[in-house]
Amino acid sequence: MSDFVVRAVAEGEERATRDVLGQALHKPPVDDETWRLTASAWPAAGKFAAFDGADPVGVTSSFSTEIVVPGGRRVPFAAIDGVAVRADSTRRGALTRLMAAQLPDLVERGHVLAGLHASEATIYGRYGYGVAGRMQILEIDRAKVRWRADAPQSGRVRLLDGADAAKLVPDIYRSIGLPRHGNIGRPDLWWLNNHDGPIRDGHRVAVHTGPDGDDGFATFVTHARRAPALADWRTELRVREMHAADPAALASLWRFLLGIDLVQTAYGQARPLDDPLPSMLEDPRACRTISIEDELWLRLLDVQAALNARTYGRAEPVVVEVADRRLPANSGAYRVTTDGTSRTDAAADVRLDVETLAMLYLGAWRPSLLADAGRIEVFDAGAPARLDALFKTVVEPWCGTHF
Ligand SMILES: CC(C)(COP(=O)(O)OP(=O)(O)OC[C@H]1O[C@@H](n2cnc3c(N)ncnc32)[C@H](O)[C@@H]1OP(=O)(O)O)[C@@H](O)C(=O)NCCC(=O)NCCS
Repeated sequence: MSDFVVRAVAEGEERATRDVLGQALHKPPVDDETWRLTASAWPAAGKFAAFDGADPVGVTSSFSTEIVVPGGRRVPFAAIDGVAVRADSTRRGALTRLMAAQLPDLVERGHVLAGLHASEATIYGRYGYGVAGRMQILEIDRAKVRWRADAPQSGRVRLLDGADAAKLVPDIYRSIGLPRHGNIGRPDLWWLNNHDGPIRDGHRVAVHTGPDGDDGFATFVTHARRAPALADWRTELRVREMHAADPAALASLWRFLLGIDLVQTAYGQARPLDDPLPSMLEDPRACRTISIEDELWLRLLDVQAALNARTYGRAEPVVVEVADRRLPANSGAYRVTTDGTSRTDAAADVRLDVETLAMLYLGAWRPSLLADAGRIEVFDAGAPARLDALFKTVVEPWCGTHF
């Protein structure tokens, strides 16, 4: 058992906890100038730290925003934006104690869901987080790109420099309006932490203007590899993120990016599984999925509120027994119906833990597949098919915001 003290981070301790995170993620300490510019993006609020004497050796950080759930409702969401334990203090229970402090605090502050992006996929299931959204990495062979005649196209695309982009892009993101379940709101501190940085680091920003004004953007970076012979020079283009209000704006951004000269290979990083790009090309093999990865890990903090917030497909009801050992108030049976959910004393049709419920919640996984995989205990043989129909969503869940 560890002798750490785990408590909320106090004012004046922010920078030391920021350095714990930086060190664990193999980044240099924040210099004075960077800290001056970005300190407000790392407030004490929403953070817990583990202290060994006076020194913080572990931290878990969160900021509050909203997430869209199936059906379009927005619910209070805690984005866990930094988890780390200093290398000389790992495997002594610090993370477990940090999570034990953070989870009830998030509930108390009214969050319905929490989420994170995991550096390793074996850490967070034990705390009730499950993979609720996945992403794909696309690799595009530019020489093979020919657009189908019916592929949409609209407006025009222009490049912005860092200062203009930092002003404009947050407004475009806001006006696009979180169209997909899994999307989250981006508070000012997110933009300060994530967006200004990459632009300064050489990312460029393309903005699409449609009939009603600016309605999409992409941030990207290019890497050139020089070789002795000109014919062997290679340039890669990496699309870091791309958001658009409608399919025509998205297609036009792709057209622009894949039309940039001297690029041999382009990559779409962290794209939703249903990105339409391959279906708009004459040769769909010009665009390959080179990896499918977990994107958003979700934690239902208030199971009843979360289940009630989303909509369901048409099927007969299912009684789902949920086990949540970290937040035991969530444990119990819920009757899930087409019209909503309620607590019940009825006998369970299926039993699962809260991590598996998170996997179902946004529609990323077919419940019957998770039953086949042994993650859902089945008492009524017809229940998995009914859960499939209830939880299914037409579009894939996708967060699209790294934090
Ligand atoms: C991941 C990290 C936060 C774990 O902290 P920790 O204090 O060592 O974790 P704990 O001692 O509380 O261990 C908790 C449990 O997780 C397991 N665990 C810890 N780190 C793990 C890892 N990297 N991979 C798999 N399991 C891990 C432990 O074995 C333990 O399992 P148990 O509950 O079955 O006993 C820490 O190793 C770290 O900061 N790593 C570098 C930065 C990082 O990856 N941060 C996460 C960013 S999303």
